[in-house]
Amino acid sequence: MKREDLDYNAAEFAPEEDNVFGRIAGRYDRLCDIFSFGIHRQWKSKMARAMAREQASFILDVASGTGDIPLRYLRQKKRNPDARLLVSDICPEMLEVAQGKLEGKDDGLRFKVLNAYDMASIEDNSVDLYSISFAMKICDRELVLKEAFRVLKPGGTFFCLEASQIPIRFIHNAYLAYMDWCMPIIGRLAAEGDASAYQYLLKGVHDFPNQRELAEEIRRYGFMDVSFESLTFGITALHRAVKPPFAGVGTP
Ligand SMILES: C[S@@+](CC[C@H](N)C(=O)[O-])C[C@H]1O[C@@H](n2cnc3c(N)ncnc32)[C@H](O)[C@@H]1O
Repeated sequence: MKREDLDYNAAEFAPEEDNVFGRIAGRYDRLCDIFSFGIHRQWKSKMARAMAREQASFILDVASGTGDIPLRYLRQKKRNPDARLLVSDICPEMLEVAQGKLEGKDDGLRFKVLNAYDMASIEDNSVDLYSISFAMKICDRELVLKEAFRVLKPGGTFFCLEASQIPIRFIHNAYLAYMDWCMPIIGRLAAEGDASAYQYLLKGVHDFPNQRELAEEIRRYGFMDVSFESLTFGITALHRAVKPPFAGVGTP
């Protein structure tokens, strides 16, 4: 898929054209801590706690990166002791880091290279809980949502943690100005001169829909009971949605 085809891709990122995550995999965790002053850990823990409240036996974490969401979900797993968790990413280097962090922590863990747009090896209506964090802004949302809807069981739950908007416009603009100013400097230093990672993420942060717009998009692709919680004044938001219990296979 070429970059110009990605209408719903806020960052205009095409992994086939730029293996940026492959290049920064070993430094990704450090970059997250630096860019967010460590707050990403709280956001991810919040998502994992919300996921653990769902009854689920097959959990699919998509675009898992270095495995932060699965790592935190496992800490809550006593609530779903028999759950199987598939950790996936399109980038083998990122998945390798995740594997290093998670391997041996749980018998129900599996790892697989998967493209969120086309997960042919995952059957229709087979997943109880689908999660994606900080990847939606660099993906084509239409393709991600359609594929999430296909693989989820009727009644299954969708979670998305992503950059969002602070509702007070001038504060949001000040936040964006800060990101525009500091991300290139910190990003260049921490990524040892590789500018592309923060450029995609920055573009994604600028052009991603706000909480309500994303909720509306999720609804448009067939989900029901769409809700969201703004985190840290709306810098990020956690969306939850349900595939309708009587939905057909694949098509909303
Ligand atoms: C910003 S990282 C987020 C990683 C992790 N979920 C987290 O919250 O830290 C984005 C991840 O999305 C992955 N990714 C990008 N496009 C993808 C796609 N089409 N399918 C699956 N993974 C994708 C990248 O390889 C990268 O690991």
